[in-house]
Amino acid sequence: MNASPEFRSEIAPQPEPSPAVAKFLARKPRLLIGGEWVESSSKTRIPVFDPATGKQIAEVPDANAEDVNRAVAAARKAFESGPWPDMLPAQREALLWRLADLIDRHAEELAELESLDNGKTKLMASMVDIPAASAQFRYMAGWATKIEGSTFQTSLPGPPGAKYHTYTVREPVGVVGQIVPWNFPLIMAATKLAPALAAGCTCVLKPAEQTPLSALRLGELIIEAGFPPGVVNILTGYGETTGAAIVAHPDVDKIAFTGSTEVGKIINKSASDTVKRVSLELGGKSPVIVLPDADLETVVGGAAQAIFFNSGQVCVAGSRLFAHRKVFDKVLEGVAGVAKSMKLGPGLHPETQMGPLVSREQQERVLGYIKSGREEGAAVVVGGDAPQHPGYFVRPTVLADVRRDMRVFREEIFGPVLVAQRFDDLDEVAAAANDTPYGLAASIWSNDLRAVHRLVPKIKAGTVWVNCHHMIDANMPFGGYKQSGFGRENGRTAIEMYTELKSVCIAI
Ligand code: NAI
Ligand code: MG
Repeated sequence: MNASPEFRSEIAPQPEPSPAVAKFLARKPRLLIGGEWVESSSKTRIPVFDPATGKQIAEVPDANAEDVNRAVAAARKAFESGPWPDMLPAQREALLWRLADLIDRHAEELAELESLDNGKTKLMASMVDIPAASAQFRYMAGWATKIEGSTFQTSLPGPPGAKYHTYTVREPVGVVGQIVPWNFPLIMAATKLAPALAAGCTCVLKPAEQTPLSALRLGELIIEAGFPPGVVNILTGYGETTGAAIVAHPDVDKIAFTGSTEVGKIINKSASDTVKRVSLELGGKSPVIVLPDADLETVVGGAAQAIFFNSGQVCVAGSRLFAHRKVFDKVLEGVAGVAKSMKLGPGLHPETQMGPLVSREQQERVLGYIKSGREEGAAVVVGGDAPQHPGYFVRPTVLADVRRDMRVFREEIFGPVLVAQRFDDLDEVAAAANDTPYGLAASIWSNDLRAVHRLVPKIKAGTVWVNCHHMIDANMPFGGYKQSGFGRENGRTAIEMYTELKSVCIAI
């Protein structure tokens, strides 16, 4: 994959980072524990790479079990005593708003940091990642003042005339461990922290080892916003060590995780030892279903976006295309045309349309899937390889002649690789779409109201989009069926995940 000296790459060079980002990197990020930036007691550090060049741009502490103990103790202390538990809901709301404003004020810097760390384009980060993160904090800020229980009647026995006053109250679940992946680092951190803080919990957040930078910058903004020490603690480290120690810690009340189904299963097992509350947002293999009446121009753009957005590194990526036999060839040709025309490049370059994958490991994994597809008999319609360049690029790829027993159909590839199949009727496509252990999302493309309403109930997925894909809103519950996880982030349901329901029964 290394470019020979005489090779002129089609990939543009990565522009220099801005002074604000250079200044942040020069601060040498540490761990945020109890309101202080501290070194890890491990003394070892994790290298952070720019995926567009393969060059190291930073290193962050590798938190060990002792650091986890310190962070959990700080979170516990902040939960039980000090200003946080006494704070009025409206004060928590104000803090969350202040944080959202700070994110917006530093949007340019955060977008650049996200681009450098993850590989996505700065343009996309400024349009999607940063505004979605501040929107999440603002939306959840509103919930801080709206958490409620209910009063209800009972039929409890007692002496004649006995009366009971019974009601429920929602209380914060306690110290929460939040483990997030690298595909949308800041959005993931925001989606975990915002509802927890609105509910009054305290947090130990672990960003992914590949992309720790925006969470650490967020930590600085959290301090600047005025959150009391220990309310948010941020530990950088590897999953198998730092992450596992958070999950196993007896003083953590809840784990919220987004990542692979494989690790979700490990976490669920480990958390069961202490009967922690667990919410899991895991992998997917989401179908894009095109009915014969659909507007093909909309479909082509939508289906291409569904798989190529964020270089396909999206849990809800529309990675399986099912197009009706009548329109299959046209849709395939259209999506392949989009793939062919996409300009690969480094995230900070203004002309780049698709950035690299996050890591060498992911690049190899995705290329491995393409290879397995070829070996099992799939046809590569477009793409299928990596440009000669030290960055972790993979060309947008479309595979046809795909069978349902192939690995590329069954497994989450998590890259810009689409597998395409034709179908003849609704029952057939519903069965094919559901022929997966996953159930995160699906999109249906049609204006045939009856067909759409017949299909929606047949699809086993937590989100079904019609004539759109990737639409995720802070007020719209989000989560998976089947092995895509359980629990629903966003909306009221997120607040429910970060609270316990207490029933109170008073004999009066
Ligand atoms: P991963 O699931 O290993 O990593 C996600 C997060 O979990 C990271 O913060 C990691 O440090 C942590 N982690 C890993 N092992 C852990 C453990 N034993 N205990 C506690 N925390 C742990 O995902 P990875 O290895 O980065 O990517 C592998 C595949 O996972 C991808 O190819 C993709 O298919 C899937 N994935 C799905 C995501 C989603 O949004 N649903 C996000 C990232 C990856
Ligand atoms: Mg892993």
